[in-house]
Amino acid sequence: MIAAYIEKYGHEEKLKIGDFPMPTVGPQDVLVKIKSASVNPIDFKVRDGKVRFIRQEKFPLILGHDCSGEVIQIGSQVKKFKIGDRVFSRPRTERIGTFAEFIAIDESDVALMPANIGFHEAASIPLVGLTSWQAMYGVAHLKPGQKVLIQAGSGGIGTFAIQLAKHIGAEVWTTTSTKNVDFVKSLGADHVIDYKKQNFTEVVQDLDMIFDTLGGDSLEKDFSVIKPGGFIVSLSGSPDHRTGQELQLGFIKTLILGVVGLKANLKAKAAQAHYRFIFMKSNGEQLMQISNLIMQGKIKPTVDRVFSLKDCQEAIEYSESGRARGKIVIQVSE
Ligand SMILES: NC(=O)c1ccc[n+]([C@@H]2O[C@H](COP(=O)([O-])OP(=O)(O)OC[C@H]3O[C@@H](n4cnc5c(N)ncnc54)[C@H](OP(=O)(O)O)[C@@H]3O)[C@@H](O)[C@H]2O)c1
Repeated sequence: MIAAYIEKYGHEEKLKIGDFPMPTVGPQDVLVKIKSASVNPIDFKVRDGKVRFIRQEKFPLILGHDCSGEVIQIGSQVKKFKIGDRVFSRPRTERIGTFAEFIAIDESDVALMPANIGFHEAASIPLVGLTSWQAMYGVAHLKPGQKVLIQAGSGGIGTFAIQLAKHIGAEVWTTTSTKNVDFVKSLGADHVIDYKKQNFTEVVQDLDMIFDTLGGDSLEKDFSVIKPGGFIVSLSGSPDHRTGQELQLGFIKTLILGVVGLKANLKAKAAQAHYRFIFMKSNGEQLMQISNLIMQGKIKPTVDRVFSLKDCQEAIEYSESGRARGKIVIQVSE
């Protein structure tokens, strides 16, 4: 099968297109003929070796963390899927590789894709949908009427998270640049803060949840506007000891992460709030609930640009520009 891969870590490493053996299908796996995959910043972070501390990759490594496609073979113990099903998935971390014609995925990481959307749109959902779901329901327990700030509302995460928070019934603030103000309003944001003109700390306070997609200075400022008891759920800040425990990284690495995350946890304590760094996980059941929301028209996928598999490198570079408006999709097959 044809796939896009890297041979080693490195910012200069370019994706190559090459021939790989067909995946082995285990008893609990479905073999998916991939139609579309989406690009996520984790793809270039893995390439750069930035997540090496917590993830060990083998080379050559096929990149790509989510996809849509058709089931063409099932393992002997598969119960939920049959040949011909149209599915989408964020395969578990040890088994990524969706920039490829085929992938074998554990059935518990797969869901039927919404029938009212196409393969490109479906591929744009799993990673950002599950991340937002796990942050809002699993960590912050966001409730109707609560106030949430979603940083970078026009990005892959933001475009999904705004819609999910509105579905939950929260009051939504989001940050974006001038050119995207109307766009994020169209997704349902109640209050838009144009970061080119305003500092969010001067506009909003007493937030129940902040969804931090930016880290750095932005995360530093979050602590001044979170309400006592509120949750800052970070995707881009510092992991901490909890990350080490959850990922079972062992004593030494967990200790190191404890030190790395200390500053954020102390700031949260001073604000009487909670700081949680999350690494999203694959989860077919949650993805099925997301699929149902899309079927009901509650959430609409937002695809910015579609690239062909041979132009995968260009797609990654566009993601790295940090200017994508919604999701970047790779068309793998017709
Ligand atoms: N830990 C996890 O499990 C996990 C899961 C998913 C994602 N992440 C991380 O979360 C981050 C966001 O992911 P993503 O897919 O949403 O990225 P993305 O799609 O590449 O984000 C691009 C968007 O960010 C906006 N943006 C850039 N700088 C901004 C600023 N200072 N203020 C407000 N908006 C800004 C841009 O809007 P403008 O052009 O208007 O500036 C653009 O629309 C990445 O670092 C990713 O690796 C982590």
